[in-house]
Amino acid sequence: MTTTEDSAVSSPPRAAIAARNLRIDNWRRGPILTVLGITAWVAYATFRVFYQGDYWVADYHYLTPFYSPCVSEGCVPDAAHFGRFLPDHPLLPYAALSLPFLLAFRLTCYYYRKAYYRSFWLSPPACAVPDGHAKYTGETRFPLIVQNFHRYFFYAAFLISVINTWDAVLAMHSPDGFGLGMGNLVLWANVVLLWCYTLGCHSCRHVMGGRLKHFSKHPVRYRFWTVSSALNARHMMWAWITLASLALTDFYVMAVAAGWITDLRFVG
Ligand code: FES
Repeated sequence: MTTTEDSAVSSPPRAAIAARNLRIDNWRRGPILTVLGITAWVAYATFRVFYQGDYWVADYHYLTPFYSPCVSEGCVPDAAHFGRFLPDHPLLPYAALSLPFLLAFRLTCYYYRKAYYRSFWLSPPACAVPDGHAKYTGETRFPLIVQNFHRYFFYAAFLISVINTWDAVLAMHSPDGFGLGMGNLVLWANVVLLWCYTLGCHSCRHVMGGRLKHFSKHPVRYRFWTVSSALNARHMMWAWITLASLALTDFYVMAVAAGWITDLRFVG
């Protein structure tokens, strides 16, 4: 019998069923696609972050999000909107101030946790499929207890989204002053999608509407909570779309910066 002290970590094991599992659908598909998608993205992002080139288009002030804010002494001065104070070293990304927080934000995200626990760690690989490990300790001890810091990484990611937005504003530039090109549409689309992901965060939702007894007494917070909740309902979708938009935005800036393509200009 289950007592009130039982938890997901200490509850009795599953019923003794001889079959490994009783699922007849293709439950492996999800975890396999997740492994392929995340592995490809991490490989591309790692290459770009340490490449330290083709991250800035001087004529139009396009800065790739993988290098924002650019705070290394190796950054092009015009691209360093917040100063250059970190040493220039091949193993130190130009955006070394923001990338660790963004990585931590995604790693501790409720959706990504589900995704990599299932696909990389097989814990468990799918609903009603046994855990790939004999022992299950949940998130009760180091290092997984760090997942509980997600709210603080959200604050950092919020700030970085503001910086990305500022980058997009500064990129409305041409050698003659104001400018608008395809790169601006790409940068703005990425920023809007990043906000959809960030504001739909479970922690954001709690910041907006948590610990309130009466929504009627807090109409503004209620409004924000409603928006956050609507975005939250599609959090997995935003998580994947923003991985794609980040990589595509970076690739576009790299392609223009390297001279592989010319930016389509509408103004300037
Ligand atoms: Fe996914 Fe916070 S829960 S970003």
